[in-house]
Amino acid sequence: MAKIALITGASSGMGREFALQLAGRPEVDEIWALARNQQKLDELAAEVQKPVRTFSVDVSDSAQVAVFFETVAAEKPEIVWCINNAGWGKFCRCDELSPEESLSMIATNCGGVVNMALRALPYMPKGAHMVNTGSASAFQPLPYVGLYGATKAFVRSYSRAMNKEVRRQGVTVTCMCPYWVGTNFFDNVHEHPGNAVVTKYEVMYKAEDVIKTAIRDAGRGKDMSVHGWINKFQHVAAKLLPQRLVMWVFLKKQGLK
Ligand SMILES: NC(=O)c1ccc[n+]([C@@H]2O[C@H](COP(=O)([O-])OP(=O)(O)OC[C@H]3O[C@@H](n4cnc5c(N)ncnc54)[C@H](OP(=O)(O)O)[C@@H]3O)[C@@H](O)[C@H]2O)c1
Repeated sequence: MAKIALITGASSGMGREFALQLAGRPEVDEIWALARNQQKLDELAAEVQKPVRTFSVDVSDSAQVAVFFETVAAEKPEIVWCINNAGWGKFCRCDELSPEESLSMIATNCGGVVNMALRALPYMPKGAHMVNTGSASAFQPLPYVGLYGATKAFVRSYSRAMNKEVRRQGVTVTCMCPYWVGTNFFDNVHEHPGNAVVTKYEVMYKAEDVIKTAIRDAGRGKDMSVHGWINKFQHVAAKLLPQRLVMWVFLKKQGLK
């Protein structure tokens, strides 16, 4: 039975980095890489040293996810790493996003994680790890990153609770909460009617470093992975300070009211 690392959002950024790093681990025989862009998945497959199977799947579409899991059911691999990472965001006022686009973000960032996680769990043996991609935007409400942050707050809360619930199965669940990371994520965040508002990024962490930390933290069974000192500081500050104050500081930093 093949031991696989199943990764969504593997065509780019942090998902691609998960594929590269998990391929180097002895417990992983194959990478199963999911995203919508088949060409980018093919490029990844050519780069990775272990066998890679690519699947063009839109995780916001539950019918496509169900079809993918027919292959899983037929082959019954052991999912030793399940990385639910596909996601996207927009930085703008809430009403600059249509209801359809807003629901589509929720369907990808929240629905995609829930659907993949629940369908993958039965194939995860004792000692397996799940990582769900949250964000530092999950630590507090962030005006102009509001919907995106809310989807990630969902992922964080769901994943930490799930970690307790599936402990008896011997599986750990970690919510990775990155700060700003230099990936293609930023290509689309300002594609909306209205001005670019959130534009000041005091640090851009490297995907390679963020993923190294996430794999280490998941291996240790932590329910959250928070890479970087600025990120850790924000995490603590958001716990200790009134959320109104944290939002005020964020708006000041961005030059917004
Ligand atoms: N970069 C940051 O600063 C940052 C910080 C915190 C959290 N995050 C989160 O990190 C995760 C990875 O983002 P990234 O920074 O690596 O950005 P990225 O380079 O844009 O990668 C996003 C990945 O998600 C996939 N994806 C998006 N929508 C999808 C869908 N409906 N179905 C399947 N795949 C989909 C994309 O592939 P296709 O387009 O080929 O489908 C791509 O592989 C996301 O959940 C993001 O919200 C990012």
